[in-house]
Amino acid sequence: MPDYLLAIDQGTTSSRAIVFDETGTSVAVAQQEFHQYFPRDGWVEHDAVEIWDSTLTVCREVLERAGIEAAALAGIGITNQRETTIIWDRDTGKPIHHAIVWQDRRTASVCTKLKTDGYESLVVERTGLLIDPYFSATKIAWILDNTDGARARAEAGELAFGTVDSWLLWNLTSGRSHLTDATNASRTALFNIHEQAWDDELLRLFRVPRALLPEVLDCAADFGTTDEVCLGAPVRVAGIAGDQHAALIGQACFEPGMAKSTYGTGCFLMLNTGKQALRSENRLLTTMAYRLDGVPCYAMEGSIFVAGAAMQWLRDGLKLIRHASESAACAEQVGVDNPVYLVPAFTGLGAPHWDPHARGAIMGLTRDTGIAEIVTAGLQSVCYQTKDLVRAIQNDGARLQALRVDGGMAVNDWVMQFLSDILNVTVDRPRVTETTALGAAYLAGLHTGVYKSLDEIARLWEQERRFEPAMKPALRESLYAGWLDAVERVCNN
Ligand code: G3P
Repeated sequence: MPDYLLAIDQGTTSSRAIVFDETGTSVAVAQQEFHQYFPRDGWVEHDAVEIWDSTLTVCREVLERAGIEAAALAGIGITNQRETTIIWDRDTGKPIHHAIVWQDRRTASVCTKLKTDGYESLVVERTGLLIDPYFSATKIAWILDNTDGARARAEAGELAFGTVDSWLLWNLTSGRSHLTDATNASRTALFNIHEQAWDDELLRLFRVPRALLPEVLDCAADFGTTDEVCLGAPVRVAGIAGDQHAALIGQACFEPGMAKSTYGTGCFLMLNTGKQALRSENRLLTTMAYRLDGVPCYAMEGSIFVAGAAMQWLRDGLKLIRHASESAACAEQVGVDNPVYLVPAFTGLGAPHWDPHARGAIMGLTRDTGIAEIVTAGLQSVCYQTKDLVRAIQNDGARLQALRVDGGMAVNDWVMQFLSDILNVTVDRPRVTETTALGAAYLAGLHTGVYKSLDEIARLWEQERRFEPAMKPALRESLYAGWLDAVERVCNN
């Protein structure tokens, strides 16, 4: 019985493939970065063909590195950057426009109008989301309105829409599967999370023809079999979840009250709320945690648009450091009591501010501010933003006992200690920090019989290090007050 699982993790800046064995240990990894297009202020695009090409390349590469044939795979799990919107021609399989990325703000004025017209409560009630350019719905309408003949072709059923999971699946199966899973569907603002179905009223509101949409399945399901040309042998695609949902699964946060925070391009904190779709009074999102055997499990989510991307900007944009790992030395030198604040609102602010018009700023500069202070402020901004989310969760009445962390920045001990200090919450780092990919592998493993239950998966989670809060309350409060003041200066709300 083949027990290897292949996870495809198609993220915002790179496509990755990881082979896991049945103990959840990574056997081989392959990764390829791809182009980011910034055609105008606040616009972010990807070439969907490049997304597919890079994904196929890393899948082939990782099998070679792992020294296994595709036939040794029990299944494939796909996890992906969410909300990013792709529309393609069902006949040719060619995208009709660049993918509009989740960070893209081009539909901000449409969203403002919908909010002014009083539609936000309907969207919140049905989807758990807010009206914001972040979600797919207004991006779909934008492509249809700005590509010649697209709206009529969409109505006629000639075009297909998909988030990145659907697009990859379509290509892996040579157009046989046009499907998605409940977590990705829940990020479009078109999916009723209570009824688990596309919502006709929302389709009308956002002007999205139903004929474009994929069918929605559970996260562990039969999504189809890959075409032999892809990997040399057909393989079952048996799991799909948006990356933050997959990370929640990879972190084994299966009980209500368990929470994880993933530090990738952005930072996404998710709290499992079980069978209850809790509604936030503090502008957090209600979303799917996962759906298995037709049973929805819900979560509360705080979404921050820029986390690791701030470090990328300090490295590639400002060239203040050569490698992200140099940031820890800067922070050691400066210490926590840094008077400089960097608000990385490059593409507006997400939760809990939801201001698409906000832009970034560096504040508190003095004559003796140097590179180290600015870089440290970049690291600290990630922790302060997480604090904004945790405060919102706490104001909603939830208690956060511990936070499981993962993603690139989670390996930075200085950041994790500062995070625990500023949150005043225990931070747990697992042995495997590739939890997003691991979650996708687990889903595929659940459906193909490698794992019998979520309990079995939960037993595989191992802690590598625990960070306990040690900061004096007065310092915590004064540092955070400085952050709130900085954020207030960039917000238009
Ligand atoms: O909602 C956007 C999110 O899914 C992107 O994740 O890992 O590419 O920052 P990441």
